[in-house]
This record gives sequence, C-alpha cells and structure tokens, in this order.
Amino acid sequence: MPFLNFIAGRWVPPGTETYFENRNPADPDDLIGSFPDSGPADIAAAVESARRGFEGWSRTPAPVRGDVLRRVGDLLAQRKDAIADAMTREMGKVLAETRGDVQEGIDTAYYAATEGRRLFGHVVPSELRSKWAMSYRRPIGVTGLITPFNFPLAIPTWKAFPALLCGNAVILKPSEDVPHTAHILVETLLEAGLPPEAIQLVHGRGEIVGKALVDHPDVTVVSFTGSTATGAAIGETCGRMHRRLSLEMGGKNAQIVMDDADLELALEGILWGAFGTTGQRCTATSRLILHRAIHDRFVADLASRAEQLRLGDGREPGTEVGPLIHENARKKVECYVEIGGRERAELVTGGSAPGGRLAKGWFYRPTIFTGVQPGSRLEQEEIFGPVLSVIRVDSFEEAVAVNNGVRYGLSSSLYTRNVDLAFRALQLLDTGITYVNAPTIGAEAHLPFGGVKQTGNGHREGGWQVYDFYSETKVCYLDYSGRLQRAQIDTYGT
Ligand code: UN1
Repeated sequence: MPFLNFIAGRWVPPGTETYFENRNPADPDDLIGSFPDSGPADIAAAVESARRGFEGWSRTPAPVRGDVLRRVGDLLAQRKDAIADAMTREMGKVLAETRGDVQEGIDTAYYAATEGRRLFGHVVPSELRSKWAMSYRRPIGVTGLITPFNFPLAIPTWKAFPALLCGNAVILKPSEDVPHTAHILVETLLEAGLPPEAIQLVHGRGEIVGKALVDHPDVTVVSFTGSTATGAAIGETCGRMHRRLSLEMGGKNAQIVMDDADLELALEGILWGAFGTTGQRCTATSRLILHRAIHDRFVADLASRAEQLRLGDGREPGTEVGPLIHENARKKVECYVEIGGRERAELVTGGSAPGGRLAKGWFYRPTIFTGVQPGSRLEQEEIFGPVLSVIRVDSFEEAVAVNNGVRYGLSSSLYTRNVDLAFRALQLLDTGITYVNAPTIGAEAHLPFGGVKQTGNGHREGGWQVYDFYSETKVCYLDYSGRLQRAQIDTYGT
C-alpha cells in the first residue's frame, strides 16, 4: 500500500496517480515505501481546504491551540525511540542524532504550548489624553512550508508549530527524501487533536509541488529551508506577490582555533562539527581556521581521529558517521574532492568511498584538505558532506577576515582561553550565531536561529522571534475623550 497525501481532512491518493520510491541510504535495497508524486491540482485542493481550516483554527483561543501542541509534545516524547529509528532508516544519520532531532521537535512543541498563554502584545501610553493604544498578534492565513531532508522532524516542527500556535493553517511539503517522517508528524498532530483542515500534507517534487505551493495566490506565508539557488527563485516569486517569506539557506561555517586554545576540546568540537550528520547540516563546520603555531600538531591529531570514526548504518550501535542522503549527494562530494585536487589543496585523509560491507550505501570517508586557499571554490562553496577545508592563519584578525570572506553567514566558532578575543569575536564574526569554545552546530530550540548575508533574508526560526514571523501585528487605538484629538497636532497644543 502506498503512502498518501493528507488533504481536506482525509488521507488521499494524488490526482496524478503516480508515486515515487523512498529507500534507505545505508542500504538502497531496503524500500521504505512509495509516496505520492503529486501535482499542482493536489496543492490547489490543499489550499482550498486550508482556507476553511484557517477559519476555525484562527478563532480557537491561543491557549487552547497551545494545549494541542502540548499533547503533540507528549506523543513525540512517548514515541521518541521509534520515530528516531524510522528517521535513521530514512535518512541515515546515527540514532543519537535522530533522537536529538525528535527532542528538538519536543522542545519546540512545549515552547509553543507555553507561548499559547503569552503571545503578548503591547499596551503603550498614547500621546493624547483619554486615549488607549495597544497592539496584539493576529493569525495571517495559509502557510506553505517547504522543508529539507537533514532534520526530517525538527525543521518541520520549527515552522509548523509556531505557525499553528499563531492560528494559521499549514500546508507541509516535505523533502522527497524524507516523506515518511513527515507522515508520522502529521499523524501525530491529528492524534493530538489538531482540527484536520488546519494541516495538509502534500508529497512530491520541489520543482512541481513546491513551486505550485509558492505560486498559489492564496498561500499568504512561505517558509523555506534549502539551497540558496532555490531560495532565490522562491524569493522572486514571493517578492512579486508581496508575500511574507522566511528563507534559511546555505552555510560555509568556520571553526577558528587560536594558539592558546584547549586543543583537545577544539579537536572534539571539530570532529562533531564537521562530520556529525555526515556534514549535512546548514550549520556544519566545513572550514577549520588554524593559528600557525598549532597548525601542524592539530592537523596530525585531527587526521588520525577522523580516520578512526566508525562509518556504518546509523541504526547499528557504535556507528559514528552514517551515509550521505543519496547518490547525487555523494557525486557532489566527489566532484568537490576533485576540485580540491585541481586547486592544489592537500588531501590529508579520506577522499574516497569505503568498500566492503559499506559498498552498497551512499557512504563517504571523512575527508580533510589542508593548504586550502581563501577564495578557492573548496573554501567558498557549500558541499553538504563530510569534507573539511583547513586554512592556516597568522593572527586573530586574519582568522576573522577568512571567516567573513564567504557569501554565507550562519554559524561560527572560536576556541580560545582569551576572554578579550572571545568578546571581540562575538562582535566581529559576521554570522547569525557564534559559539565560543563549542562547535558550529548545536543551536537550541528556544533561541532564534538564522544567518546573515546569503544564508537568509533577515528572519529567524526558533525562540521568541519566529512568533513575529507567523503573526501580523495589529495596532488598536481607542479614544474615549469624546472629541476629535489629532495626533502630533493636538499633542503639544500647536
Ligand atoms: C540545519 O542544519 O538546517 O544547530 C539546522 C544545529 C541544529 C539545527 C541545524 N540544532 O546544528
């Protein structure tokens, strides 16, 4: 039995009557299921239903909406291990990480639940007598959420939970690489008591279903996490339609290690930052900026530790690095390894796919290049795989310049024991997130998440800030003076 879309309160086949297969990246012989290869007509039906869903859900009191999300959090917590297992089977990262991914969803649910009893507006003194001024948050409408494969549960929850808490209806278009996790999430929302038409799930390809969602005139908010190229195309459409849009895109994040750093700590940080999730995070550390004084020693230790990382099926105990998501992702990594060679960077370790029992899956060895030149393609472009570029610098100032010399600006990290440098880094590193003595990955759900430059378009996910994105501020003035009072003009008796 193929999996179905969830549209207009029912699990339904796609209008196209065609399906695509979803396979385990650690073992492509393992078929997870067939999922709808939907078309624009399915999006049209979902939007029509979501508009009805919005009518009822937007009028449900925010604390009651929050209560639904609290139950979602409870259900996710009860099923954490089973969902993590399904997620690892679907996208490959190790169980500890998929459990963390579910936990990020639970945290986001509980944050949303409590926000239902806040969702504060402001009461502000008016400049005129006997006049009341205040603002409150209104829901906006139908939100179209397009999500990536690397955090199959957490990222849809980052978008859907605050959108729902604010009273919007949601249409979810998950990555075609992780449709099963999205199916589980929607089942969970329904089981927790979300009114069926407040949520729609439409599977399919980005260029067809994602595009139809973005093009639809009745979708009033779009949130997208994915590549900078796709984000630019979505931005053009939304700009033309004057539509609210949140973009979360590429990264080329760096970890800087100064000569006074705790080197063992920095080593653990870089192994996790560069090779966790097989390098497939927007926040992954793909550049390591080393102070000259510790460069050679650090590289030697790092290479030997990277070689010891255990590759394998993420569901097997002891595995530290899982496969890439699919064949094309591995081809992209291979292509960048060739580029590194052409650019005369030195391959220190990795640079190939493992054979033997891992030959079947989309595995690739943790790969490290040294002597990488600032400005080279290896140093500038997002690879989204287990490839680390090492850049040697002479000073803190040079490290900052290298960090900032890319078009992205999501996350950065500095390892030092010097408190002055730490504070200077917080100001100078041009990224949305900076860590001191911690790797570039590991953002927490209750803090705003996002980047500067080509990483985003100024919005943030997570924390308190995302609630601004999914709600409209309405300002209300009540004049009970019984006469015409003109702002600015009558205020000062002019
Ligand atoms: C992403 O890669 O798109 O900070 C999100 C982190 C995670 C989220 C990453 N909490 O690495």
